Amino acid sequence: MTALSVQDLRAGYDPDLSIVKGVSFNVAQGETVCVLGPNGAGKSTLIKALAGQVPVHGGHVSLGGKNVTGLRSHALVRQGLGFVPQTENIFASLTIRENLQIAAELLPKTARAQRIDAMFEMFPDLGTRPAEVAGALSGGQRQMLAAARALLTEPEVLMLDEPSAGLSPKLVAQVFDTLARIAARGVTLILVEQNVRAALAITKRALVLVDGQLAHDGPTEALHDGALLGRLFLGQRDEASA
Ligand SMILES: Nc1ncnc2c1ncn2[C@@H]1O[C@H](COP(=O)(O)OP(=O)(O)OP(=O)(O)O)[C@@H](O)[C@H]1O
Ligand SMILES: [Mg+2]
Repeated sequence: MTALSVQDLRAGYDPDLSIVKGVSFNVAQGETVCVLGPNGAGKSTLIKALAGQVPVHGGHVSLGGKNVTGLRSHALVRQGLGFVPQTENIFASLTIRENLQIAAELLPKTARAQRIDAMFEMFPDLGTRPAEVAGALSGGQRQMLAAARALLTEPEVLMLDEPSAGLSPKLVAQVFDTLARIAARGVTLILVEQNVRAALAITKRALVLVDGQLAHDGPTEALHDGALLGRLFLGQRDEASA
């Protein structure tokens, strides 16, 4: 079953300038896919467009078989989409619990406390210090809190934009361990990553975005030696895959 279907998506900040220039791919339920590409390729724009935070100029997006093209972010969350942005993904001045309470406002009142407890169970590092101010957390713990906020609404599809950016190797390992646990629960994951090595370790399939278009869509193994990835980043298209 297809969790997310993207057909000829065009999107961008300015109506006259598409940054995402006709991107098509399908993600199966429970699949983990990484999106790679050089800086400025449009990875964040693509994922933000799918999350309802950048205007869609054309194409078609469906989530769990339902047409969700052009829906805004709150509506998409209700349809089962979770999104962890690249920056500003937590409220640094609020406590861990308050961060989760805000995310829980999208849920029915009766479900909120139970879902927050479920997140504390899943992320014991957060559960042991609910009253701590989020700004005082380590980079890895902040990413966990950001993931917990997105997972609170029990998304079918979770998209994360560079969850390991700026983290030490130890914290990168911690974040990827968390992502592997989320994937093991059957959540469909779409992961934008600069840390190619770490991303390739937990994903079987990679999309490579170059200048707003897919240059490659195929098994991550093909990218392990780095030579193909290097050529793709420099602009070569992998016609056999994309
Ligand atoms: N808020 C914005 N308003 C206008 N243009 C933007 C905005 N954010 C990004 N862009 C432009 O969109 C293009 C793609 O940027 P985007 O952030 O999607 O790339 P990226 O692949 O995520 O890069 P990185 O690897 O550096 O995160 C760039 O030319 C950028 O200048
Ligand atoms: Mg980006």
